[in-house]
Amino acid sequence: MKKEIKNICCIGAGYVGGPTMAVIALKNPHIKVNIVDINEQRIQDWNDTDLDKLPIYEPGLSEVVEHTRGRNLFFSTDVEQGIRDADMIFISVNTPTKTYGKGKGQAADLKYIELCARQIASIAQRDKIVVEKSTLPVRTAEALSDILSNSESGFNFEILSNPEFLAEGTAIDDLLSPDRVLIGGDNTESGQIAKDTLSSIYEAWVPKERVLQTNVWSSELSKLTANAFLAQRISSINAMSALCEKTEADVDEIARAIGMDSRIGPKFLKSSVGFGGSCFQKDVLNLVYIAKSYGLDEVAEYWDQVIKLNDYQKRRFADRIIKESYNTVSGKKIAFFGWAFKKDTNDTRESAAIYVADHLLDEDAEIVIYDPKVTEERVYADLEYLNNHSSEYIRSRVKIVNNPFNAVGDAHAIAVLTEWDEFKDYNWEKIYSKVLKPANIFDGRNILDKQELNTLGFNVYNIGK
Ligand code: UDX
Ligand code: ADP
Repeated sequence: MKKEIKNICCIGAGYVGGPTMAVIALKNPHIKVNIVDINEQRIQDWNDTDLDKLPIYEPGLSEVVEHTRGRNLFFSTDVEQGIRDADMIFISVNTPTKTYGKGKGQAADLKYIELCARQIASIAQRDKIVVEKSTLPVRTAEALSDILSNSESGFNFEILSNPEFLAEGTAIDDLLSPDRVLIGGDNTESGQIAKDTLSSIYEAWVPKERVLQTNVWSSELSKLTANAFLAQRISSINAMSALCEKTEADVDEIARAIGMDSRIGPKFLKSSVGFGGSCFQKDVLNLVYIAKSYGLDEVAEYWDQVIKLNDYQKRRFADRIIKESYNTVSGKKIAFFGWAFKKDTNDTRESAAIYVADHLLDEDAEIVIYDPKVTEERVYADLEYLNNHSSEYIRSRVKIVNNPFNAVGDAHAIAVLTEWDEFKDYNWEKIYSKVLKPANIFDGRNILDKQELNTLGFNVYNIGK
């Protein structure tokens, strides 16, 4: 049995809420989907008639928004109205790592989630299904349920966990053909109705056998586990890259060789300057915190090593630039190609580039950055957020340019931090003529044609080769 859903509200118009709701609206034209957010600028950008101004860059997103916006997809700052009208509410607000108090640096900060729950409890005028979409520590649903069931409204709130597995840069494809959709809920009669109701929304386009139902806790923990396993694979191959650099082995050849073992599989074995993004580090740290809080110290240490290795990889890359620059980068210009944490996104959260730049700034380097999608203010905000250098110092040492050729004039080195496809097709002969000699390239993504660059005269330093 399932309930009829005519109106959905999603609280939080970010990287998760925006694309997910746009696709739900696309595939369920009979459901009105309201995305609400307290950030006025963000909502204004989502409503901009110029689709290039959408607050998030994702291939295919603007087409979906163009098709649905004003039809059955709406963006608004009126959170209360959104909650009141909805049969089903998705909570898709941010859950950053705590920067204060208990669990600082590890636990997820749930204050935004709690605020939402309290707001729903005080505004709702009838029963609702509440879906947690943000990545959350296990047993958050319990906290949500506590707040909602203790409200004086007397209405029934059914809590579901529906973690998002989309990856940025491929969000629309991931949403249109997901490997699976996971829906966790109570094993009560009303819990089952809620799970079936949400399942039916996805089954408008996802094959039934890919929609999995579990209990709430399994669903919440599956999300953390999936991200921890993926992050662990990258740290594992990056650990091997350090060993490859000391031997004659080539990490890409190793990845290919082990990836052909069907038990291992070929994906997520690309060695790099280190993983970034809003999820991996946050979720693994969260897992570490949860394990510790249950007294499972060995489990906590095991996963913590994934983060330590990632930090080591970023540091190693920066150190190599310094070492190959005759042990000093002071006053030297280092050109960065890429700032986003991966290609095809303007998201920079936890990007390896931030940490590499910060380390080079410790050594008094000058950095000139070109990224096809990241804005100047974003770069400065990322560096200032680390609180290691004053804003004046950062702004005097770091420049952002909107053309790659403007970044490389008189550069002592070029560092590739993001795997944007366009970097491969540049006129590298022209770039060679502009940089200082010896011309050094540090390819943190192993995407450039080393042989061709060597022929032009560049020294190319790769990861794991
Ligand atoms: C990740 C998960 O993939 C997704 O399922 C979850 O919902 C959110 O977190 P995302 O962070 O958007 O998605 O991107 P992902 O493609 O997983 O890449 C994360 C980081 O790992 C990037 O910095 C990427 O460059 C790096 N990476 C990825 C590697 O260094 N090597 C690889 O082989 C794969
Ligand atoms: P994610 O990657 O998880 O989507 P984002 O930071 O991109 O995270 O988006 C989360 C959004 O949630 C932000 O736009 C933020 O303004 C919004 N938000 C946070 N708290 C609330 C709240 N109480 N009510 C409405 N929107 C909120």
